Amino acid sequence: MLSPDPSVPLSTNVHLLRWVQKMTALCKPDRVHWVDGSQEEYDLLCEQMVAAGTFTRLNEEKWPGCFLARSDASDVARVEDRTYVCSASKDGAGPTNNWMDPFEMKKKLRGLFDGCMKGRTLYVLPYSMGPLGSPMSQIGVQLTDSAYAVVNMRIMARIGKPVFEIIDTTDKRVVPCMHTVGAPLEPGQKDVPWPCNTEKYIVHFPESREIWSYGSGYGGNALLGKKCFALRIASAMARDEGWMAEHMLILGVENPEGQKTYVAAAFPSACGKTNFAMLIPPKHFAQKGWKIWTVGDDIAWLKPGPDGRLYAINPEAGFFGVAPGTSDKTNPNAMKSLRKNTIFTNVALTPDGGVWWEGMTDEPPAHAIDWQGNAWTPEIAKATGAKSSHPNSRFTAPASQCPTIDPDWEKPEGVPIAAIIFGGRRATTMPLVFQAFNWTSGVYAGATMGSEMTAAAAGTIGKVRRDPMAMLPFCGYNMGDYFRHWIYMQRTLTETPRVFHVNWFRKDADGKFLWPGFGENMRILKWIVDRATGHGMSKESPIGWVPHYEDIDWTDLDFPKEKFEELQRFDREAWRQEILSHEELFLDLRSHLPKEMIYERELLICRM
Ligand code: GTP
Ligand code: SPV
Ligand code: MN
Repeated sequence: MLSPDPSVPLSTNVHLLRWVQKMTALCKPDRVHWVDGSQEEYDLLCEQMVAAGTFTRLNEEKWPGCFLARSDASDVARVEDRTYVCSASKDGAGPTNNWMDPFEMKKKLRGLFDGCMKGRTLYVLPYSMGPLGSPMSQIGVQLTDSAYAVVNMRIMARIGKPVFEIIDTTDKRVVPCMHTVGAPLEPGQKDVPWPCNTEKYIVHFPESREIWSYGSGYGGNALLGKKCFALRIASAMARDEGWMAEHMLILGVENPEGQKTYVAAAFPSACGKTNFAMLIPPKHFAQKGWKIWTVGDDIAWLKPGPDGRLYAINPEAGFFGVAPGTSDKTNPNAMKSLRKNTIFTNVALTPDGGVWWEGMTDEPPAHAIDWQGNAWTPEIAKATGAKSSHPNSRFTAPASQCPTIDPDWEKPEGVPIAAIIFGGRRATTMPLVFQAFNWTSGVYAGATMGSEMTAAAAGTIGKVRRDPMAMLPFCGYNMGDYFRHWIYMQRTLTETPRVFHVNWFRKDADGKFLWPGFGENMRILKWIVDRATGHGMSKESPIGWVPHYEDIDWTDLDFPKEKFEELQRFDREAWRQEILSHEELFLDLRSHLPKEMIYERELLICRM
């Protein structure tokens, strides 16, 4: 039941009460609302956002419990150039993170937050990353003036009363998270549907384990449990405590004998994690009894278990998935997950009160309202190239609605990981798949990963950049120390996961994808699982173990050997350039780079 007076604190923890009081005095909101996490509260907030014009309720019959939000056109993705890791020393954050002296930054933020919530409500939002009560879970409290953030967080994390109870009854450390859209209202001033500020700061203090986010209401900038906590702060905690916080999906592969093998895969933003996590095997595999189970689609926390294997939990409870390209053909499981109780952001609204985005159906709707609220038709699109949906438009859907959600997805101790897969979006150079020779060479493959930039972050799209372990924007400390931590982790395990690298995105001379991808990725995944469980065959190449054509199950897919060899081709000239760009990253990291990385590079050069 929703409390009749939400300003009454729902916690008795004196530290929490004092902090909320202090921050309320700073932010000067009109009201304070302690979030209980109930359905009634969620419904009420959604209703209020419909009245304010932030939300549009979708057709109740076709899209039960679903809403559409349109963000401000300037607030559509993570802002990496406004993201800071304010460690005590600049060296602690390393060359791949923006840094500012923590005292300076705090001073700056205190100025920005002074009065930032005038005319608004401050929500006290407690959340658990990871299943409630799991020994691997972590607690945060987000103070925010965004009801949009609150309702999204209710899908993405475990929130509300049960979390206050953990705070009140255990000594579990809480990560304080400050968030404002940075748009105070003068008395009588009319609000806009998507308040935000042109100035933005997404700031992390790894030593004091604090997050301050100013000016944005979108995705990873505003749902602070996700990238800010579960990756940037958690990666720093994990280094201190001997575990790992990674930008990885987790899936289980069930073979016809009913045995399950779990793998985790790190692909950069908008490079296929959600799709891979929900893969539906081709018919012939399904008929034989192969099945994919989904544990998580974006973040994994991994920790050595008592048996010496690496165990993983998904700290999230929902999917914040890329909408464009998601369809009944490419990802039916995602489509089923988002049929109800889902929040859509920056997709198109159809005349029947539904949503649409590029790639959802072959046939676009004859009319729609685009993500900026303008009339859109296929004819307009043809003439102007206007997209109905923003390329980084997203759905926020409960993970429990995924038809392939693993029965063990909330297991407190996690699931055992047999293989780790790295993968980028590369039009050239990188083969479809290879297996690293061993853990250290696997760490090298992850550390030197490259990928084309996508719309998930503001910036140049399509440019190849080094994105170590898909963590470039998410590592909360010095990247060189992060590589060292990866190497160190092997010593804490008696069974090391096998390491692989994939690339679904290699193109031919005409710019067409060489590989069909999506469900067909099962063929590669099967080889990976075969290898990780000691069955699969392979041959040696300069970069690692690769499959022979015959080692892949090609049943029902017309994929000639020549095409496979084109996909796997080792292009010596391209690899020369590739290794030179490895060196560029290593130069930046020089004093923190583990010597293993230098040796691996030398060995790679020798093998070439
Ligand atoms: P974040 O949520 O930003 O971390 O992204 P993600 O890694 O979960 O990426 P997602 O699965 O949402 O895929 C992003 C885009 O890549 C979508 O447009 C997909 O349709 C496309 N995609 C995913 N898998 C494949 C594939 O195997 N082949 C091809 N060609 N495209 C793919
Ligand atoms: C990503 O960019 O990797 C995402 C979306 O998963 S966001 O939550 O905005 O970071
Ligand atoms: Mn992501």
